[in-house]
Amino acid sequence: MTGMHIGYDLSFTHTEGAWARQGSWIGRDFPDVRMFMELAQTAERAGVGLLFFGDGSGIPSTWRGSIAPAVEWGIQWPRHDMSPVIAAMSTVTEKVGFGLTYSSTFMHPFYVARLLNSLDHVTGGRIAFNVVASTRGADAANYGFTELMDHDLRYERMEEFVDVCRALWDSVAPDAIVRDRSTGRFADPAKVHPIDHDGRFFTVKGPLASVPGPQYHPLVVQAGNSPRGIAASARFADLVFGFGGHLASQQRHRKLLDEALLGEGRDPEHVGILWATQVIVGRTKAEALARCDAVHEFWNEEAVATYLSHNAGYDFSTLPTSFQLGELRDELAAANASPAGIVGSLVTEFGADHTMSRGEFFAHGRGRATGLDHSVVGDPAAVADALEENFAATGSRGGFMFSSPLAMPSGFAGISELLLPELRRRGALAPAYQGSTLRENLAV
Ligand SMILES: Cc1cc2nc3c(=O)[nH]c(=O)nc-3n(C[C@H](O)[C@H](O)[C@H](O)COP(=O)(O)O)c2cc1C
Repeated sequence: MTGMHIGYDLSFTHTEGAWARQGSWIGRDFPDVRMFMELAQTAERAGVGLLFFGDGSGIPSTWRGSIAPAVEWGIQWPRHDMSPVIAAMSTVTEKVGFGLTYSSTFMHPFYVARLLNSLDHVTGGRIAFNVVASTRGADAANYGFTELMDHDLRYERMEEFVDVCRALWDSVAPDAIVRDRSTGRFADPAKVHPIDHDGRFFTVKGPLASVPGPQYHPLVVQAGNSPRGIAASARFADLVFGFGGHLASQQRHRKLLDEALLGEGRDPEHVGILWATQVIVGRTKAEALARCDAVHEFWNEEAVATYLSHNAGYDFSTLPTSFQLGELRDELAAANASPAGIVGSLVTEFGADHTMSRGEFFAHGRGRATGLDHSVVGDPAAVADALEENFAATGSRGGFMFSSPLAMPSGFAGISELLLPELRRRGALAPAYQGSTLRENLAV
């Protein structure tokens, strides 16, 4: 048991109004790289293990088939490729790690393996690869797909994708580079091998034309939540992301993952889950609640509907005035949309037979879009209590990936300045920066 590891999810520090609220940057706007460099420095001072960027390349367009509301209100857009930003952040820090997301559904593993190797060098062994099987049609359309590949097929492609990355990282042995200045001999050809991969999805000759990175294999992170997704985590993930905020589903995830890991001959004690958890902390409970109100004020109805439809991959403008939750769930599954998310949690909460009105659906959806229906809110002691309890009840392996819907940088500053010192004082956190690489620092 190592105590909690802490990550910050920086994916949406500039969207959904966070850029405009009180406590946001003055005189700086996304994508000013200095914003991120400063965030990295303050996070490192607080002992944060991982700064994480998710990815999605399409503009939300599922609601009424239009990008207009997402563009107008800045819902999940704009989003940049954050790899150069990570490189810049790494030059002003020494310890904190970085997580970068690419889609195995759309990208090619040779490109991604090569890029991650470069980032492993630039960051000094502090890079993690979050591999995702994309669920959104808006992303697919940018890569030449008219529709999303089947859910389970995406995971098969993901497993092959990671196999190829790993084979490429292995294709130049750690001791292959000789660099003998007296003879000019650079490397030992006996230690550099093609991979000759010829699989269902990819054909890659290899080897990688790269010097092995400090971690050799960048840390691989994955967030499958379905049985098939969890099977993929068990096969290859060094660290898992899970949806936090709902204890019963977290315990289910931990249990299924542990079983699947044992099935793969891996030790569940050494595979942590970082639970994605939105926290809103204030010096007092009243201050924390006032911060929630500021988030609520931003979200108009169109913004909520745009967000929900995008994340589910289903246009909720087509909902009838009332409907049965189980039928809606089945319809999403049949449409290759995501039956987890909002619809899945409503089914869990109210039952598949429950009939819901369109108005009620969007009222619940508001809580989902703002994240306020599953946030941990309060003063530092109350939030720390809730997190300690949740950590213990979910196997005490991993920790939390915090997100904040508040203005930036004040939202994460609150976590760094109020919450993390409280958790550290209690001895609840894993010791910060024990090793020299991210892989060592996040080990459980
Ligand atoms: C912390 C966290 C971060 C995630 N980041 C992304 C992301 O950046 N891009 C993405 O397309 N999906 C992301 N996901 C979603 C997962 O990749 C996955 O689609 C989801 O967990 C559902 O998996 P399932 O289809 O196996 O149920 C994330 C999930 C979690 C918990």
